[in-house]
Amino acid sequence: MARINDDYEKLQAGYLFPEIGRRVAAFQSEHPDASVIRLGIGDVTLPLAPAVVQALHDATDEMGTAEGFRGYGPERGAEDFLLEGILEHDFTSRGVTLAKDEIFVSDGSKQDSGNIQEIFGRDCHIAVTDPVYPVYVDTNVMAGRTGAAGDSGRFAGILYLPATEENGFVPPPPDAPADIAYLCSPNNPTGSVASHAALAEWVAWAREHDAVIIYDAAYDAFIQDPSLPHSIYEVDGAKECAIEMRSFSKRAGFTGVRCAYTVVPHGVTGSDAAGQRVPLNGLWLRRHCTKFNGVPYVVQRAAGAVFSPEGRKQTQEQVAHYMSNAAYIRTGLTDAGFVCFGGEHAPYVWVRTPQGLSSWDCFDRILGEANVVTTPGSGFGASGEGYFRISAFNSRENVEAAVSRIQRAFAG
Ligand code: MLT
Repeated sequence: MARINDDYEKLQAGYLFPEIGRRVAAFQSEHPDASVIRLGIGDVTLPLAPAVVQALHDATDEMGTAEGFRGYGPERGAEDFLLEGILEHDFTSRGVTLAKDEIFVSDGSKQDSGNIQEIFGRDCHIAVTDPVYPVYVDTNVMAGRTGAAGDSGRFAGILYLPATEENGFVPPPPDAPADIAYLCSPNNPTGSVASHAALAEWVAWAREHDAVIIYDAAYDAFIQDPSLPHSIYEVDGAKECAIEMRSFSKRAGFTGVRCAYTVVPHGVTGSDAAGQRVPLNGLWLRRHCTKFNGVPYVVQRAAGAVFSPEGRKQTQEQVAHYMSNAAYIRTGLTDAGFVCFGGEHAPYVWVRTPQGLSSWDCFDRILGEANVVTTPGSGFGASGEGYFRISAFNSRENVEAAVSRIQRAFAG
């Protein structure tokens, strides 16, 4: 008998975005003439930057020659040119020194943030901010680290740290200990960003409690104020307690191309059953090499092109386009009386639902009356109830139309 993993039965009905897709498909089949604007899932809309496209072509041509053909990549999966680009542009430029063998290139931060929990014991106690990117929670549920979900959707055994208007949607570390804490900055979904001081508090907490921070910085390119940290390693001591994830998805339009990386510094350790300290870098390397054969060479070349002078300029222009959409959304909805947060260092605007509507009721109303897809805040956790998220990933024309339709739907 193929006994299933019962932990999957604890999961909520469906992953958030397929559920939104289901509701939108149902709406469209009932209203085939409605022109629906999608500001729900944070999926990029601009075409790949020319420098990236050129690199893909060049690498493909190279693979079509006897001299340039490549099969499996290097043992660790990443090409030197890409590791060097990552180190120079994402870390050295911000005063952070890391080694190539601390960087693990992969096909996405969603996968990495979901898979990383495999190297930790099943009895580790997890802390998450709430609302939160659902992948962190669901993968720990699948791994059996939680009890069942209660009425609010919160799982027994997880320490939830409410991100609220009062704490600027950047919760401080808990008084209680935990073994692993997931942080995301700039934050999905609230669009908040952690200051250097806030991260320093978290690093001090992790070191005091011998905890590991999983730091998701997939949206770092959207930070507008250069004094804000892009990496948790800008904080002293983080290289002893934090794993960081970065992605090319949003910064360079790679959601369909797939490339990301995870940093596991040699100084980050956990303890084994005998109480011996074990470096997590070796465990993640073992997992990575066992379950993954690396990102395609042509994709690595495309990612490498993001660090070329033209690639940087072109992708920064894409980010600027999305950030100007975010500013437009925030201003337009604020003018219409909505209370808005985020959108200043992140491509997401987090909005309080008006008239006491629940998140899903507000989602349905905006879909039904404005034909705009948003994301209900409660889909990200109990503390997201009473909010909705709008993504800035779309054309300017669609963003302007969406804002004026929402304004009209809620006028008076
Ligand atoms: C989101 O909309 O929250 C993101 O696009 C999801 C993701 O990056 O997987």
